[in-house]
Amino acid sequence: MSKDLFSFVGKSLERVDGAVKAEGKALYGDDISFPNMIYAAAVRNPKPRIEIRKMDDSLAKKIKGYFGIVSFKDIKGKNSWPLVMNDYPFLPEKEAKFYGETLALVLAENQRTAKKAAACVRLDYKELPFIDDPLKALEKKSLKIYGKDNIISSFKIIKGDADKAFKDCDVVIEKEFRTNYQVHAYLETQTATAVPEPDGSITVYSSTQCPFYVLDAVAAACGLPNNKVKVIQTVTGGGFGGKEDVPALVAAHAAICALKFNRPVRLAYDRKEDFMSMSKRHPSWARVKYGADKNGKIKACKVKYVLDGGAYATLSPIVLWRGTVHAAGPYKIENVFIETYAAATNKVPCGAYRGFGQPQICFAQESLIDDLAEKLGIDPIDLRLKNMIQSGDKTATGQKIDESCGLKELTEIVRKKSRWDKSEVKINGDKRRALGFSCAYYGVGLGAKGRYLDRAGAFVNIYRDGSVQVNVGNTEMGQGALTVLSQIAAETLNAPMKNIKLAEVDTSKVPDSGPTVASRTTLMSGNAIIEACLPLRENIFSAAAELLKAGKNKITAYGGFFYFGKKKISFEEAVKECWSKRLKMSEQGWYAAPNTTFDINNGQGNAYVIYSYSADIADVEVDIKTGEKTVHKIYAAYDVGRIINPKLAHAQAHGGILQGMGWAIMENLIVKDGIMKNPNFTDYVLPISTDAPQYDISFSEKLYKHGPYKAKGMGEVPLIGVAAAVRNAVKRACGVSLTYCPMISEKTLKTINDKK
Ligand code: MTE
Ligand code: MOS
Repeated sequence: MSKDLFSFVGKSLERVDGAVKAEGKALYGDDISFPNMIYAAAVRNPKPRIEIRKMDDSLAKKIKGYFGIVSFKDIKGKNSWPLVMNDYPFLPEKEAKFYGETLALVLAENQRTAKKAAACVRLDYKELPFIDDPLKALEKKSLKIYGKDNIISSFKIIKGDADKAFKDCDVVIEKEFRTNYQVHAYLETQTATAVPEPDGSITVYSSTQCPFYVLDAVAAACGLPNNKVKVIQTVTGGGFGGKEDVPALVAAHAAICALKFNRPVRLAYDRKEDFMSMSKRHPSWARVKYGADKNGKIKACKVKYVLDGGAYATLSPIVLWRGTVHAAGPYKIENVFIETYAAATNKVPCGAYRGFGQPQICFAQESLIDDLAEKLGIDPIDLRLKNMIQSGDKTATGQKIDESCGLKELTEIVRKKSRWDKSEVKINGDKRRALGFSCAYYGVGLGAKGRYLDRAGAFVNIYRDGSVQVNVGNTEMGQGALTVLSQIAAETLNAPMKNIKLAEVDTSKVPDSGPTVASRTTLMSGNAIIEACLPLRENIFSAAAELLKAGKNKITAYGGFFYFGKKKISFEEAVKECWSKRLKMSEQGWYAAPNTTFDINNGQGNAYVIYSYSADIADVEVDIKTGEKTVHKIYAAYDVGRIINPKLAHAQAHGGILQGMGWAIMENLIVKDGIMKNPNFTDYVLPISTDAPQYDISFSEKLYKHGPYKAKGMGEVPLIGVAAAVRNAVKRACGVSLTYCPMISEKTLKTINDKK
């Protein structure tokens, strides 16, 4: 299939939600309102770990407009958030486990009064000893705060015999790496509104990536069957993984309050409480070891990887599993031993952030492989090329990559574009400037660990005038899903793009389509839409052929019109004809990912159905007097299968790179003795538009046979390799092998000075 055969796919069409957002007309979670709505505010844990003795709202009762307090006693359902390990109570009963945890909610006639009342609630508690270091948490003699051993989750990958293979290696290298938190910093904070309905059911409006997770949580908290809870996603001002888990908790809180007071209830976090209590990218510690022969053939890899899970499991097991699977890097290595742990600490629970446990371990392993190249005296790109996965090779889990693998081409593209082979360290006064490389792979979708969730539904309804409504269960959060899915629907039906309308996600209108994570929307919802559209397409194409008085195979279809010879009819005319024949003009589609086989005991098998790939080269300047870094340019190349919308794909690249850069060199959340010190945009420094590097983006479209129009997934890949590329450039520029993120100036300077 050549690209020209498509009318809509592969074209940089305008965002369907662009104007409404740019003009400020879109209604986000805190913009909607309901008659008689009241406002909730959280009473939060002021310490890392406490025994709750009493909460007294007698002072709050004196405030005008105060409605009352809601505690765990008001939960009509089960006090356990259904999410992976079910260990997180909606509201704690005796013990609170992290600073910022919601202990209770107060209600008032407006947000300000609610906040004021929350501050007036007197808390009687006893401070309990706590743990804030994940490595200490894993020690045998540590204080136990989670189960018997403080281990939330743990995995292993065993392939060949790594320890034995290291003995035969000419060069062995081993280092420890650490990375810090990353805060999603979406513009819209966590927000939900719960509206009790006259029949005892409840409707929840939620700023979320995962409406069905919200549904599960609200139903559990309210003790209602799923069909009595309706979750509608409001326009969502960014997610990046941060609106995967926490919105369910926020919505459940709002719902518990709404049922108690029988009024619509709004719960919207301010920035500080959003920082304190919402999930983040896990801080990590990793010890990585690679061994190679003198020609640079990597023979063994050993990794120990520990994530700081925080006080409750939330998504740690899934995030850890993804990190485990990818821990050896995109290389064919015969002997691999990987052990991984998510350790519990008395800190904010960590969850999903773009890349999902893969960026942390990629930073460690792509840094170490660069150092291995140095030790071997081989060019770092040449070393990777010798070992990297290509079609026909097997990953660390023994999965044979048999299609759609462009990693080698990507590497060659960025190598050429950056003039890597001719590049040298540029010295200008105290400034040193050089290039650094990294590459990565990313399993699209939930893979073996989340395979029961890897499905999606769609409902397509064509009206008599030829306009089309599409319902899906995956969400738009800025990434462009609405546009990409519209293009897929338009292409499959041969309907004009303007005729397609993606409805807001409403759990009562579409089957549970899993979470909008793991870059799975284009693939899963895209395929579900195609499945729904195919029978409709049959009807429409037959009707068009009849109107054109031609055989069905003789007509051509393009851009919303049907042609035969000189005759032409529109999509709308064909639809009208279908309706006049009383043909079925609505269909539902369902897509389930192909099966994966994976042995959880030794970590062998097909972990993911397909992988996307990236190669990055960072052009970085370091001031050796201050440790300051300027990322001048990122050359990045991606294989994400067919590009459905090139402009949006570039936008995803730009955003992902900038977030990767922020994590690499700037963003530094400080948690001391369990207390978060900089929960705001003044003290938590993020890259802004003026910090953006130049972007040089390329694609190599290795088509995936099961993908919609042969696409894979794009959303997270651009972030993953950036930190290691920056770190490797810093190393080349000034000779220091940094082992931590963020590489903030002060710390880099110290490393430079220590080396002298
Ligand atoms: N881009 C924008 N603008 N806003 C977001 O919240 N989330 C990222 C990525 N790109 C995000 C984004 C994350 S974490 C994921 S998993 C994917 O988009 C999800 O979208 P997809 O499934 O459509 O790829
Ligand atoms: Mo993305 S971290 O999988 O929401």
